[in-house]
Formats: sequence, structure tokens, C-alpha cells
Amino acid sequence: MSDPLLRLVGLHTHFQTKGSGLFGKKKVIKAVNGVSFDIAPGEVLSLVGESGCGKSTVGRTLTHLEKATSGQAFFEGNDFLALTPSEFRPLRRDIQMIFQDPFASLNPRLKIEQTLAEPLFIHGLCKTWDEARVQIAATLELVGLDPKVMARHPHEFSGGQRQRIGIARVMILKPKLVIADEAVSALDVSIQAQVLNLIKKLQRDSGVSMLFISHDLGVVRHISDRVAVMFEGQIVEIGDKTQIFEAPQHEYTRKLLGSIPRISLGREVA
Ligand SMILES: Nc1ncnc2c1ncn2[C@@H]1O[C@H](COP(=O)(O)OP(=O)(O)OP(=O)(O)O)[C@@H](O)[C@H]1O
Ligand SMILES: [Mg+2]
Repeated sequence: MSDPLLRLVGLHTHFQTKGSGLFGKKKVIKAVNGVSFDIAPGEVLSLVGESGCGKSTVGRTLTHLEKATSGQAFFEGNDFLALTPSEFRPLRRDIQMIFQDPFASLNPRLKIEQTLAEPLFIHGLCKTWDEARVQIAATLELVGLDPKVMARHPHEFSGGQRQRIGIARVMILKPKLVIADEAVSALDVSIQAQVLNLIKKLQRDSGVSMLFISHDLGVVRHISDRVAVMFEGQIVEIGDKTQIFEAPQHEYTRKLLGSIPRISLGREVA
């Protein structure tokens, strides 16, 4: 096997919370409590588990939105968890995140072309607007939108189209690792399948690695190479998709699989 693109070793992310009442005791929430896994180049690893088990916190820690309490995360062999914001900046292009709510992650005042040009200019990938527009048009086509939409504002789009724009903003940077956190969960079921297919196609065509965070096992079954099952801040089982779905070893995985409604997105999508 090739060297992993991402290697997580014993990641802990804990939160201190104030107790209730005047003399309430401080509590520590061990949202991520010793998580280790690898993601190979071009691989899709899904992170599944019930609400509150720490999935998003793993993704947010990897993108420096939360501070790790301890542990290491190597990207192409270099530990990046302890980097300062300015040291981490060059890696921001390589490690990108797609969020659940496309509207919240798009600035309503900016035209789509401004939204998509911003990361290009920030990362020095374009010098002029003409250069930027060429890349923006190509990326919009890639996500199934007419390049003409670059002159519009976010409120003019449906939820599915807005998520396509969110995906365009990530893919325009040609990242090496995409962390997708419930990327299709907020969309209507009919739209979910389309956007999921798009993500899968872009992933395959570009060879980008992906950490696909989702509570929806139907979606996970469709997109993953491997699956990690998380419970109370820890990974209880990790393995190839077929092994997890067909021959789960851990009791919690079996419970989780048993609790999914029998609507499999996997059958609906091409
Ligand atoms: N900034 C924070 N401060 C305090 N507690 C937090 C913070 N972020 C997350 N938590 C807590 O950490 C735990 C894990 O949260 P997280 O959002 O990672 O779960 P999740 O698996 O993504 O859940 P969901 O499926 O609902 O999105 C929860 O108990 C949550 O309340
Ligand atoms: Mg979450």
C-alpha cells in the first residue's frame, strides 16, 4: 500500500464547559477520545456514528477549526496539528471542507464569481480577473452549472445548486483531501442522490482523498471505500465497506446497521 496521505494517531479533542448554576462544576467533554486512522491517496473513508459521537469534531480539528488536545495528524508525513495559523495556511489549499449547510457557507452579498475567485486569489492561483473567470467557468461546468450563473447571488439558487457552488469552491483549489461533513444531509432526498453522484464522480475523476462524515448509512454505502464506525469519541470498528456492511464485527456496528430505515440511496443512484 502507498504511504497514507493522512495519518491520525491518538487524536483527542476535549471541550471544557461551564457547569450549570453559579457554582456549577466545569465539565470536560471528550468529543474525540483517541482516534487513529489512515486515508490513502484517492481513498474515501467514511466516518459514521450517531449524533454527538464526535464525527464533526474530528473534521473540524483536522481543518484547525477546533484545537486538538493531544495526538498527531500527519499530512504527507508532516504533523500539522500543532502548526500556527500562518504555518497552516499553505495546507488550507490541500485540505478543504464541504459543510452541511451550503447557504451558511456562502456570503449572500457576493456574486458567485466573487465567492469562487476569493480562494483563487488568496492562494495565489490567479493574478487577474480574466484568469480567474476562465477557471470559475470551467469549475462551474464541472459541477453541472451553467457558467453564466457566476453573475448571480446565492439567494437565486436552490439548495442543491447552492451545494454545487459550495463544492465548486472546494474543487477549484484542486485539494488533496476533502472533508465532507454531512454534505448532502440538508438536501431533499431526490436532490441528495444527484449531489452525491456528483461528489463521487468528482472524487473519482480528480483522485482526491476524502473523509466523508455522515450519519446516513445509505449514503455511506454508496460513496465509501472504507468505513470507520465511531461511538462516544472513539472508533469501535474500521474496515472495507463490504466488511462493515456485510460482516460487522462490533456489536455497536450491528446495532447501527440494524437501526437504519430500509431506504437505500445506493439503489437509486447510478
Ligand atoms: N465547541 C464545542 N464546545 C463544547 N462542546 C462541543 C463543541 N463542539 C462539539 N461539542 C460536543 O462534542 C460532542 C461531539 O460533537 P460533534 O458535533 O462532533 O458530534 P457529531 O458526531 O458530529 O454529531 P451530529 O451527527 O449531530 O453532527 C457533543 O457532545 C457536542 O455537544
Ligand atoms: Mg456533526
